[in-house]
Amino acid sequence: MKRFLTVGTTVLVLAGVSNVVPVNAEERHPTVAEQSLRALAARHGLAIGTAVDVDVLRDASDPQYRALAASQFSSVTAENAMKWESLEPTRGTYNWGPADELIDFARKNKQQVRGHVLVWQNQLPTWLTQGVGDGTISKAQLRDILRDHITAVVKHFKGKISQWDVVNEAASDPWDTPSSIHLKGFWAQHLGPGYLADAFRWARAADPNALLFYNDYNIEAFGDRGASDKTWYVYNMVRQLRASGVPIDGVGSQGHLGTQYGNFDAFQALEVLDAFSDLGLATAFTEVDARSQMTDGVRAGDSNEINPRLQASASNYSVLLQACLANRHCLSYTVWGFTDRHSWVPGWFTDPPEGLATLYDESYRPKRAYNTVKADLAFSGPPNVLPRIPQKPRR
Ligand code: XIL
Repeated sequence: MKRFLTVGTTVLVLAGVSNVVPVNAEERHPTVAEQSLRALAARHGLAIGTAVDVDVLRDASDPQYRALAASQFSSVTAENAMKWESLEPTRGTYNWGPADELIDFARKNKQQVRGHVLVWQNQLPTWLTQGVGDGTISKAQLRDILRDHITAVVKHFKGKISQWDVVNEAASDPWDTPSSIHLKGFWAQHLGPGYLADAFRWARAADPNALLFYNDYNIEAFGDRGASDKTWYVYNMVRQLRASGVPIDGVGSQGHLGTQYGNFDAFQALEVLDAFSDLGLATAFTEVDARSQMTDGVRAGDSNEINPRLQASASNYSVLLQACLANRHCLSYTVWGFTDRHSWVPGWFTDPPEGLATLYDESYRPKRAYNTVKADLAFSGPPNVLPRIPQKPRR
């Protein structure tokens, strides 16, 4: 015992000053800091996930990406490989390769897979948008195309997907016109609101066991519960879908946050998860990241500007994770990429430039956000954090 304590102390000291793992690390139980996110999340029955870029996954010159995706996470989401333009670039010809590679990776590493995404207005193939645009695809044909796509995709991955994002980002934002929240985008425009219920029914028919989710961003907290409150709109929308017997099993809250905003606290986020689960729905955070503006100071390496951003980013991750842990129906917490080396943020948010959104820096060094997530997983438990309650797919 005395020897163990001595060794333990040495390890802690070493871990504090460097990343050196002592030679005898395998001889004893790993310290909390040495455990993986997935090991710590397992205690809660929570899946901890990441979006994965399949091109990077297979890049032999970037082996840390693959290693961390496997060791730290118990769930993976295809960042792009299951989107319509990737799966069906030519009408009727499916390109399953990259998505199947990810499924294979997940099987080898005993990971769940979140299916993303069946119905969305973005990243649609041109044959589809052009065909509708020039009138060669009629409204009735479009409905058949959607049904066939959902059926083919869900059947192909049947039994391998734990949660499907069936419909993504259907609700408008308060900055759109009109500012009252409404169904937006390609599918609502061309098929009308009925496509939502149809999509869930077609997905259910193709896989009886996958959990079927509605997924959206900026629904982490309620606002004034008025006409421009997106969270309130989505809440009422899924309530109506449930009430009319549509086989929807969960709501995914993407969780794309930014440190420049006012944001909200864990109790506000929990209130929303509880509202959804009170409807009988499972919940999940599906695309968490917390970005910051890359000011001149940040880019010049000014610690006065960098440190507050890293701390605020960590806190944003924590708010969502604590809410998830406290809601027993929150089944998974997925980050949208785990390293600043491969994050969608710098490519997407350019004016002003944004970045620093993930858990690891560009050299795969864990950031404060990583250790904050780890601490939340490690230092939570009864009475307020209890194991997950599994969701039964609604027939
Ligand atoms: C993003 C990907 O990360 C990018 O690589 C791609 O260029 C655009 O889409 N909400 C979603 C995700 O549901 O599918 C988006 O992913 C990010 C926002």
